[in-house]
Parts: sequence; C-alpha cells; structure tokens
Amino acid sequence: MSQQEKRVALVSGATSGIGLAVARLLASQNHRVFIGARNAENITSTVKQLREEGLDVDGTVLDVRDSASVTAFVEAAVARYGPVDVLVNNAGRSGGGITADLTDELWDDVIDTNLNSVFRLTREVLNTGRMRHSDRGRIINIASTAGKQGVVLGAPYSASKHGVVGFTKALGNELAPTGITVNAVCPGYVETPMAQRVRQGYASAYDTTEDAILTKFQSKIPLGRYSTPEEVAGLVGYLATDTAASITAQALNVCGGLGNF
Ligand SMILES: NC(=O)c1ccc[n+]([C@@H]2O[C@H](COP(=O)([O-])OP(=O)(O)OC[C@H]3O[C@@H](n4cnc5c(N)ncnc54)[C@H](OP(=O)(O)O)[C@@H]3O)[C@@H](O)[C@H]2O)c1
Repeated sequence: MSQQEKRVALVSGATSGIGLAVARLLASQNHRVFIGARNAENITSTVKQLREEGLDVDGTVLDVRDSASVTAFVEAAVARYGPVDVLVNNAGRSGGGITADLTDELWDDVIDTNLNSVFRLTREVLNTGRMRHSDRGRIINIASTAGKQGVVLGAPYSASKHGVVGFTKALGNELAPTGITVNAVCPGYVETPMAQRVRQGYASAYDTTEDAILTKFQSKIPLGRYSTPEEVAGLVGYLATDTAASITAQALNVCGGLGNF
C-alpha cells in the first residue's frame, strides 16, 4: 500500500498497555497512526520505539480531559497525516473506593477521563478530523466488562464505562447509515500497568497482599488468566477492517469468559 492508500488512525493513551498494543497493530495493518497521552517524554520514546520497528507513527501530548488539548491534538494529526479514518478512544483511568467516602474530585476525574473524553474526542474527529464528511469510518471505544456489570469498590469506574457503552450504542445507531461504525471493546482483566495499580488498590482496601488479589481475580476468570494487551488489540484491529462493516453499535468482550453478556 502506498502512503496515499494508508488509512489514518488516532489512538488516545497509546504510550502504555492496551493503547500501545493497538497503535502497534494498526500501524502494522497499513495505518498511519497518531498517538496521544499526557506525558510528553513517553510520547517521544513511544514514537521512537515504534518507528524503529518500521512503523509509520507520530504523536503529540494530549489530555483527554481538556477540550483545547483535544482540539489541538486532532488538528496536529490532520496536519501530519490528513483526515481521520479510525479513532480509538482508549485513554482511561481506574478509580474507586468505598462509595460513601468518595470525594467529588475523584468521581469527577474518573467520569471526565473515561466518559466525557470519549464524547469530546469523537466530536472533534467527526468535525476537525472530517470523518463526518467521509463514507467510511471506524470509532472504537475501549470500555470494560465493568461497563456491563457492577464492580465492587469501583462505582465511578463502572458508571463511566456503562456510559461509554451507552454512548457507543446511541452513536452507532445514529451513524449506521453513513458507513461509520461505532463499537466498544470490553476487556476483562488485562495485564498492564493499570492492572497492577488496581491490584495494589484492592490489596490495600482488603488489607491483604497483591499476590492474594491476583489469585482471587484469576480464579474468577474461566480461562484462568488475564488477557494480554495484544489479545485486546486483535479485536480492535479486526473492527478497523472493511470486513467489519456490518458490526456497529456493539459492545464486545475480550475477557477470557469473565462476562458472557
Ligand atoms: N487493564 C485492564 O485490566 C483493563 C480492563 C478493562 C478496561 N481497560 C481500559 O483500557 C484502557 C487502557 O488501559 P490500560 O490498562 O492499558 O492502562 P495504562 O497502562 O494505565 O495506560 C493508560 C494510557 O492512557 C494515558 N492516559 C491516562 N490519562 C490520560 C488523559 N487524561 N489524557 C490522555 N491520555 C491519558 C496514559 O498516559 P499518560 O498517563 O501519560 O497520560 C497511558 O498511555 C482504559 O480505558 C481502561 O479503562 C483496562
């Protein structure tokens, strides 16, 4: 495929975990990939690393909680690579605790980072990224199985991810006649830096060790282990293809059987 024929993909939160695996896979599937995250040094090192692997990747800082940053990010992507064909809303954070003790700050930041961000970046890509003027597009939101079932001590996280699933279904139906598909990918437990932080949080809440929490979580997963970032990326890569044109407004699990709903 020539540079002109390559499609343009944006991935938020692509310096770590699932987002990094998604950026790598899409770039290896003939996309020019523009990545964003808050830490500028991590953007520089991730772009360097992926270019050394022969991939067509660039990026800039992005804070998905900040409208001006979201606008600047999409403008930079379009200036670098042209109109956007694929958006992967991946940036997110964990967060929870005993609900009666939660602060407004924590609640607002989880909802802003995980849910409001998906609306903001999607709207920007539809307009500045020109997707709404195209007869084909892919919007893929990384939600969670926590977007389908309640997670104890995870009320803000669960609420934010349920919101992402609802947004996906509504926008998927709205855009279905346009050739733009909108889907959510719902990972269960995936081994990433976020997963380590989550285990630390539960170990502290239950006054036990991180290893005990790992054993407890693994025992809930029919497959018996965490999924890998690459296994989640594989579904994202499929949803980005032309063959996936009839899949829209869905929330699909990659979770080792944890959720079968
Ligand atoms: N790991 C799991 O078990 C699991 C399960 C279900 C769903 N998920 C979801 O999968 C997605 C990725 O999770 P992960 O486990 O790969 O997490 P991770 O390893 O912590 O990576 C998160 C990425 O998002 C970026 N990010 C965080 N806040 C941001 C912000 N405000 N603006 C822009 N970028 C931001 C981070 O970079 P900076 O910190 O530099 O911004 C980083 O690149 C999240 O939406 C998460 O909820 C994960």
